[in-house]
Amino acid sequence: MAITPWVTWPALTSFGSIGVMGALLVLGSERTNLLENNMFDMEQWAKHNANLVCDERSLTARTVDGTCNILENPAEGSVYRRFGRNVDPVSVWAENNAGTLLTPNPREVSNVLMARGDEFKPATSLNFIAAAWIQFMVHDWFDHGPQSDADPMRIQLPSGDPLGSGEMVVKRTMPDPTRSAEDAALPPTFQNTNTHWWDGSQLYGSDQATNDSVRAFEGGRLKVDSDNTLPTELMSGKPVTGFNENWWVGLSMLHRLFTLEHNAVADRLAEAYPDASDEWLYDRARLVNAALMAKIHTVEWTPAILANPVLERAMYANWWGLGGDRDKRDKYQDDLANLNQNFNQLGNLFRLIGLNSNLGQNDSGFLEHALGGLVGSRTPADYDVPYTLTEEFVAVYRMHPLLRDSIEVYDIGSNVVDASIPLPETRDGDAEDLLDDVGADRMWYSFGITNPGSLTLKNYPDFMRNLNVPVRGNLDMATIDILRDRERGVPRYNEFRRQIGLKPITKFEDLTADPQTLSELKRLYNNDIEQIDTLVGQLAEETRPDGFGFGETAFQIFILNASRRLMTDRFFTSDYRAEVYTQEGIDWVENNTMVDVIKRHYPNLSASLVGMDNAFKPWGLNMPAEYEQWDADAKAQHLWTNGVMRTAYDANELPAIPPVNIGGLIDSILWTKVNRVGDVAPAGYEKPLHPKAAVARVKFVPAAGSQYTGLFQGADHGLLRLSLTGDPADRGYAPGLALKLFADGKPSENISALYTLSGQGDNYNFFANEMSNYVSPEANESLGSTILFSLVSTKPTLVMANAMAEVRQDGSAVASPKAPTQIYFVPGADVRGVFASDPHDFREDLMALPQGVKVYDVYATSATIRSSIFPSLNRRYANERRQGATKIGELHTSTPFVASAFGDSGIFFKHQRYEDR
Ligand code: HEM
Ligand code: HEM
Repeated sequence: MAITPWVTWPALTSFGSIGVMGALLVLGSERTNLLENNMFDMEQWAKHNANLVCDERSLTARTVDGTCNILENPAEGSVYRRFGRNVDPVSVWAENNAGTLLTPNPREVSNVLMARGDEFKPATSLNFIAAAWIQFMVHDWFDHGPQSDADPMRIQLPSGDPLGSGEMVVKRTMPDPTRSAEDAALPPTFQNTNTHWWDGSQLYGSDQATNDSVRAFEGGRLKVDSDNTLPTELMSGKPVTGFNENWWVGLSMLHRLFTLEHNAVADRLAEAYPDASDEWLYDRARLVNAALMAKIHTVEWTPAILANPVLERAMYANWWGLGGDRDKRDKYQDDLANLNQNFNQLGNLFRLIGLNSNLGQNDSGFLEHALGGLVGSRTPADYDVPYTLTEEFVAVYRMHPLLRDSIEVYDIGSNVVDASIPLPETRDGDAEDLLDDVGADRMWYSFGITNPGSLTLKNYPDFMRNLNVPVRGNLDMATIDILRDRERGVPRYNEFRRQIGLKPITKFEDLTADPQTLSELKRLYNNDIEQIDTLVGQLAEETRPDGFGFGETAFQIFILNASRRLMTDRFFTSDYRAEVYTQEGIDWVENNTMVDVIKRHYPNLSASLVGMDNAFKPWGLNMPAEYEQWDADAKAQHLWTNGVMRTAYDANELPAIPPVNIGGLIDSILWTKVNRVGDVAPAGYEKPLHPKAAVARVKFVPAAGSQYTGLFQGADHGLLRLSLTGDPADRGYAPGLALKLFADGKPSENISALYTLSGQGDNYNFFANEMSNYVSPEANESLGSTILFSLVSTKPTLVMANAMAEVRQDGSAVASPKAPTQIYFVPGADVRGVFASDPHDFREDLMALPQGVKVYDVYATSATIRSSIFPSLNRRYANERRQGATKIGELHTSTPFVASAFGDSGIFFKHQRYEDR
């Protein structure tokens, strides 16, 4: 294995589940190393404990300032306590004393390596909710508070700077006012102006006055206005909430959502405990709401941004581990047994990927420890260092490149941008107004389907490099991000890696292969890898574990602190129990996900969230395992909203209709077409015929007295797909239709029809002729498809309707089914003779139709289909059958026709063969 500075555990995932478990072990032991070696306490606890008294209430509730979580050390994790360190203080001193605060010029780093310019680089596996979420979390965890006016940092604008010449002035971080003589040995320290705990302080505040301002003092609830929005501050227009700095609409959404969630929990508890006081209800609701947010972050947000099987397991282990959730616990037991049996193999795998580790020789006690859950552990564990967050933790959460420069607003279900709002226009006092104007549900949908930026170099949002902050003026946040780490003594990138147990890089080329970026890095950092700023290095890391939205350097800090936030907190360990939370409370945390929370408060997003198991991944069509069990309406609605509507083309950008692709009619496609049960084509399936279409939801309204059974007796939920075999300029105009009717809890049934195999020549009126599921074979059929279709059926010009007669819309089976042999779709009065016959795009005609039109009268016969080798006889038989056909119903649209990517290549219509009748 080549020598690389990068961690090798990701390679283990290619060895299947044993490899995944092995990788978990590596992470587990890595975490233990960090816990033992990388926690540096900066605080004088005794001094702060001196005046603290933990009252009765604090035994079972979180306090406003975070004190009394750890009863033996009550100041631990509370507001205004110092950030700790994950790196040796010696390295902090070294950074501080190097005299390189302004070297290289941070504004030049920003201009050259951070600026996004015109090219937004999306993180396609995430949605924009994920960006707002992490800022929402950060505001729970930490803030350095207002800056100092003394001795600001003055940065010379580099030559050629878009701002011209002169200097940029950045205020310093507020020095720690609690420093005293006994701190002389410590490097510079800074206070966290929020509680360090994962306690929802962004909603509840970190001091009494703020907490009082958000509580309703009734029923345990938080204050909301009569329309369920947050009260706003008179001057700023920003919501009244626990922490409202750096405000924009993404925060308005989340603060509103989780304020409403708090109230939902409080209401539930009030119902279960009608005699409980406001305070008692409030305290429990806060515990529950905070724990739910922590769980969502652990098992949903994190696996979304670090979408790797190892991580998903690791995060589940953090929350559930070996206790708690029964199903998951059992799964771990199996995994452990499996691992125990395969120790030797594991050791070999480790050697194979160059891991110099004897993990494979450990006993199962170690395994359980490494994999064990943190939540619900018997006692909090702090590894002898009182819990605080750290400066290095702050440094790795500088994720401003996640932000877009504008917010694209969509109607629910649509993928057509309705409005594009520059992000700065969504800030501060504008946020709440905008949310009300756009509608919170539309905004959630819009965030759900758009991507954040990826965490890479040259992807820093433009607006943030010229950010107007009230009182502070215009700031370049990229410059500030770089400066802050230096100012606070966070070591530069390579030293940072050494300090946290990662291998240092040895050359710039380790980071990136991009020649331009390489030469810029080398120039700015004077060819010295030791000078690379820690943020720049992190964003530059191109080698990342599969699926990782950020690199291993940030991840190393993350596994340490993410675990500590849980394992040191009394309310996530010994007091995560019904006696403290109530049973209803514990159930609420365990049983709800972000998807549930969004649906609870915005029920009309339900359709957009169908099948989504992770609200932070792009919303769209997901086909859950139990899809077939749904009722007819839900299935049709799902395919329509999340399939068709979500992927609709812009009306003036319809993709061209390609010619028929005879070469694409390969065996596997033909067999799929007649065998596959399901409404969505398998991945990679392409339609070689009828590639482009328009689709509408339809109802089949039966004619009185129709003798045909099952869905022929009526179907309220159907999809009609109208298409051409291919580009009409190529082999003539050959229209076709496919109809899918849905049944509750059963697979849908389908039928397809054509006018004739070779079509209607140069008549471009889609509704010029009726269509049928049986067409006569044609001797000179230009496609030759009949011959190909003969490979899979003895009657290649017939699609059967039998299955459609066997099931009713309610899913019940028909005892004696009766199906027609041949069906005729006769253009209805609303569409007959309406459209032109000269060359034009049929989809535009269809899209111009309003909903509620009768597209077809449906006729049928049960006469046996006879055929002859003589075309004239064939025609006579066909005429006789047609004469004998009676009207069995009508097809009415219940939506307009829409042309969409899903309607073109996603939706699938099975053909029932003669052999399968
Ligand atoms: C429109 C959205 C946002 C605005 C306006 C904003 C603005 C700011 C400002 C003004 C600061 C303080 C800068 C200073 O130290 O002087 C800051 C710090 C920070 N921001 Fe953002 N930010 C936004 C979104 C985000 C997001 C999405 C993240 C993702 C994690 C994030 C993470 C941080 C972190 C970690 C800090 C450092 C905090 C500290 O020093 O304690 N921000 N942001
Ligand atoms: C057993 C013989 C047949 C085979 C193997 C076959 C195969 C195919 C294939 C591969 C496609 C394109 C892929 C797709 O839309 O998913 C297709 C589409 C289509 N076929 Fe057939 N076909 C057969 C018979 C027929 C007959 C007899 C008709 C009508 C009289 C017909 C009407 C259509 C129509 C309208 C489409 C486009 C939309 C759809 O139904 O999915 N086919 N067929």
